[in-house]
Amino acid sequence: MSHTTKYILVTGATGFIGAHVVDNLLRRGLRVRGATRSLAKGKAMIEARPQFQGKLDFVQVDDFEKLGVFADAVKDVDAIIHVASPLTYDTKDNEKELIIPAINGVLSVLEAASTSPSVKRVVVTSSFASVLDADRQAPPYFTYTGEDWNPLTYEESIDPATSAVIAYRGSKKFAELRAWEFVREKKPGFDLVTLCPPMTFGPVVHPVDDVNSLNESNKMLWRIASGEKPLPVARVPFWIDVRDLAQAHAEAVMRPGVGGKRYIPASPERFSYAKAAGIIGSNFDWARNKVAQEVQAIDESHGLDGETAARDLGIEYKSFRATVVDLVTQAASLPSKS
Ligand SMILES: NC(=O)c1ccc[n+]([C@@H]2O[C@H](COP(=O)([O-])OP(=O)(O)OC[C@H]3O[C@@H](n4cnc5c(N)ncnc54)[C@H](OP(=O)(O)O)[C@@H]3O)[C@@H](O)[C@H]2O)c1
Repeated sequence: MSHTTKYILVTGATGFIGAHVVDNLLRRGLRVRGATRSLAKGKAMIEARPQFQGKLDFVQVDDFEKLGVFADAVKDVDAIIHVASPLTYDTKDNEKELIIPAINGVLSVLEAASTSPSVKRVVVTSSFASVLDADRQAPPYFTYTGEDWNPLTYEESIDPATSAVIAYRGSKKFAELRAWEFVREKKPGFDLVTLCPPMTFGPVVHPVDDVNSLNESNKMLWRIASGEKPLPVARVPFWIDVRDLAQAHAEAVMRPGVGGKRYIPASPERFSYAKAAGIIGSNFDWARNKVAQEVQAIDESHGLDGETAARDLGIEYKSFRATVVDLVTQAASLPSKS
């Protein structure tokens, strides 16, 4: 795989995680094609990377609500990293806005890839949301692994009474399941790797005009730095730095032995928002008297296996301190409004 992989299609390339994946691949000397609904965003990404002139191009794809949107995007690429998926909790119709686009995005990518003989591997960015069983309680202590799936049914996920958070978990589960089914049933000329990261934090490299346009997870850290009280409570204590996650994607596409595997890249260090507040207060003079001084217990009742991904994909996870400091340093230099 690694001998022949030279040109990779990245969907969601203009987003928080996708842009880091693009940069990681470009730094390895690979060619990257980004897919976006807005070529203006693609142009901004290219212009911000003059050192990679000629190595990065963009194609326009329609909204994933429609099937078949990747027919042209897959031409000539050796591998695909499918990062894009709707990630919003501000919805009116969960099935239409979250679940169908997530599933159709995966199916469009895989259908198109199966008609393109050059494609040898597809990596899909799933989520810990597709793993988490919100009703599973310790004791006894248990550890989530890549074998675990959230137990939501499709009917529960699309129920209008269901919150967008739960519908998002359904969107990631059913989109990822479709990917595994597709490969099992159609036996295409590529193999599949899926990554199920938890909450992702860290500095941004995609076009962001001001702090209010940061992605949701980072915005949470910035709100803490800005003095928000009371602190938000983490739904799970697991997280990963976006640069480590980009490394995991690049390795997942390049390493011959990992085809057919499902990984949970995740730091072994747990987090809480109180821990983030403590780090921010002790690293930034301007924030010292502003940040909340709350105590939050960190949930140690169960674990998550990020070690298999670290071992198979060669990742050394960053510390929560480094991630928070790097993000807050960057966010403090962004305009507060565009
Ligand atoms: N952020 C986290 O904490 C986290 C944690 C675990 C997993 N994930 C997963 O990681 C992936 C990327 O997340 P992110 O935080 O980077 O999100 P993001 O910043 O919102 O980027 C996602 C990109 O996907 C594209 N996209 C979204 N909806 C689409 C649609 N309906 N049709 C076509 N394209 C669409 C958009 O690109 P264009 O606007 O350019 O078209 C968008 O920039 C997602 O699959 C998400 O589920 C994220």
